[in-house]
Amino acid sequence: MEVLRTMFHSILVPVDGSETAWNALEYAKTLGEKFGGTLTVMHVVKPVQTISMNGDVPYVPQNIAELEGIGKSLLQMARDRLAGYPGKIETILEFGNPAGRILFVVRERQFDAVVIGCRGLSGIAEIFLGSVSAAVSQHSPVPVLIVK
Ligand SMILES: Nc1ncnc2c1ncn2[C@@H]1O[C@H](COP(=O)(O)OP(=O)(O)OP(=O)(O)O)[C@@H](O)[C@H]1O
Ligand SMILES: [Mg+2]
Repeated sequence: MEVLRTMFHSILVPVDGSETAWNALEYAKTLGEKFGGTLTVMHVVKPVQTISMNGDVPYVPQNIAELEGIGKSLLQMARDRLAGYPGKIETILEFGNPAGRILFVVRERQFDAVVIGCRGLSGIAEIFLGSVSAAVSQHSPVPVLIVK
């Protein structure tokens, strides 16, 4: 039991607002409650970029402030879903490549485990793993629980 407690003392949960990611948060909540752990919910804002093939660069609004606002409300939704959680809750908002940022934070902060959704907002049902959960599970130095 003591070994298990240290296994889930700090859990990272990356969320993108998809139903599957909320399922992952529910799993992490239950695990965290059982083992008295800190839950860290993370969202990575992807800056929008478009490149055209014919040399014209189409205008794409890149309102970072708006994207940041959406990210913040997503993390607030996560906090609302964790209402009543007895342990510590943290949130991280990052910008850039989601898998890259998630893996950087996992290595830097040495979480005990990552709990992540198998799919996300692209929602292609035929594919078992999205690109973010595939990269995170492949390269993470700590155990990754992939939630359906
Ligand atoms: N921007 C993000 N920030 C934090 N976590 C994310 C982000 N994107 C995805 N995730 C996490 O990864 C899980 C799987 O999502 P992923 O993006 O890999 O699948 P997808 O959207 O179906 O496919 P893809 O993005 O490769 O087209 C999500 O349930 C969520 O837990
Ligand atoms: Mg995705």
